Amino acid sequence: MDYLQIKGVKSLNGTIKISGAKNASLPLIAMTILAKNKVKIKNLPQVADIKTLLKLLSNLGATCEMQNDAMEVDTSTLTQTKATYDIVKTMRASILVLGPILSRFGHCEVSLPGGCAIGQRPIDLHLKALEQMGAKINIEAGYVQANAPKGLKGCDIIFDKITVTGTANIVMAAALAKGVTTITNAAREPEVVQLCEILNANGVKIEGIGSASLKIHGTNGKLIDIDEFSIIPDRIEAGTYLCAAAITKSTLTLENVEPSHLGAVIAKLEEMGCKFSIAPQTMTIHPAKTLKPIKIITQEYPGFPTDMQAQFLALATQANGTSIIEERLFENRFMHVSELQRMGANITLSGNIATVVGKTKLSGTDVMATDLRASSALVLAALVADGITNVHRIYHLDRGYDSLEKKLENVGAKIKRLQE
Ligand code: UD1
Repeated sequence: MDYLQIKGVKSLNGTIKISGAKNASLPLIAMTILAKNKVKIKNLPQVADIKTLLKLLSNLGATCEMQNDAMEVDTSTLTQTKATYDIVKTMRASILVLGPILSRFGHCEVSLPGGCAIGQRPIDLHLKALEQMGAKINIEAGYVQANAPKGLKGCDIIFDKITVTGTANIVMAAALAKGVTTITNAAREPEVVQLCEILNANGVKIEGIGSASLKIHGTNGKLIDIDEFSIIPDRIEAGTYLCAAAITKSTLTLENVEPSHLGAVIAKLEEMGCKFSIAPQTMTIHPAKTLKPIKIITQEYPGFPTDMQAQFLALATQANGTSIIEERLFENRFMHVSELQRMGANITLSGNIATVVGKTKLSGTDVMATDLRASSALVLAALVADGITNVHRIYHLDRGYDSLEKKLENVGAKIKRLQE
């Protein structure tokens, strides 16, 4: 198993190119199931989760091939409709194939994703919405079995909670459904927006894109004609490197970034004392002289992203004063706290609120990554810790960060990938 060995540094300096967004790529790969032709996808990040979903599609009969700089996905040869446990257990987002397979083939089986390190993460809202669209859903032997032999029908769906993959799943189901589907309380994340924009540009009329109310005009079973598209930049990867600059008091430039997707993250870094020079597709962060403490509440987009909570928690350990970080989306998303405490952080947890007292001296030691974003928080802490930190179980990190150690090494970090 690989691990990262990181030696604390004085500062970083240079430019990091941001990869395509993992969370935009996943629904867009699933969307190719709705296409009648081969689809070219550009700017896909090289991360494990993308490979997992492409493998899932290949297992179902699709062909996925890298041609020059684009992944070509052809689902016209797709014959199977069952997403099996061996793949779904490694990536919960596999559930994204349920909506498109069901709407195209009239039936689909997907293994129930099961538990997850950051909380329960049920899929009840996905299933309830599909039932409203006319699907018969059974849960049997650990699988969701969904059937709609006469196709799905448009209807009015109100999500009880805002769900990102739930919205994407239902948008894709509605794309081939008969009639109009409305979604109230839809997710407004840029990744959902890109999915809607691509469908809308390729024959599925969608009104209200970017708002909490979507209206999808289904094609009544007609497959769509998509040629190619390029994935938006990863706002969470970008936010993580902004935190790397902030924690090491460095000036870093990010390229291939979409600053407008980072509003809440930039606002918090500014509150902490960092400054920004922003232009289209590029931004430079200038460090704070002294980091100020912050209050953060995680929320749905455009609020502060839960996927940046762990990184800001690491950053707060280096702020002068008391920061309060409240996690509102996932009940168990503080697994990184005990590892940061082992490095010397002063953090008190009370339910879903972390109180971080800084500034504390962090010391390098052996720590264990527990989920994707928790892993990057440990890397950030290691960048400023005294001595050497070994971050173990980085398969979590590899799920979502494209070439993290190379990108950090290029800007001066002392970081090595080693084997246990
Ligand atoms: C997506 C992102 C993940 C991010 C999360 C929140 C992808 C692949 N993953 O995950 O990185 O952390 O959004 O921004 O895009 N819920 C239910 N029932 C459901 C669905 C969700 O109760 O059927 C709850 C969840 O437990 C959670 C909340 O709704 O408390 C939001 O979850 P959701 O937006 O669905 O997260 P994901 O789409 O899984």
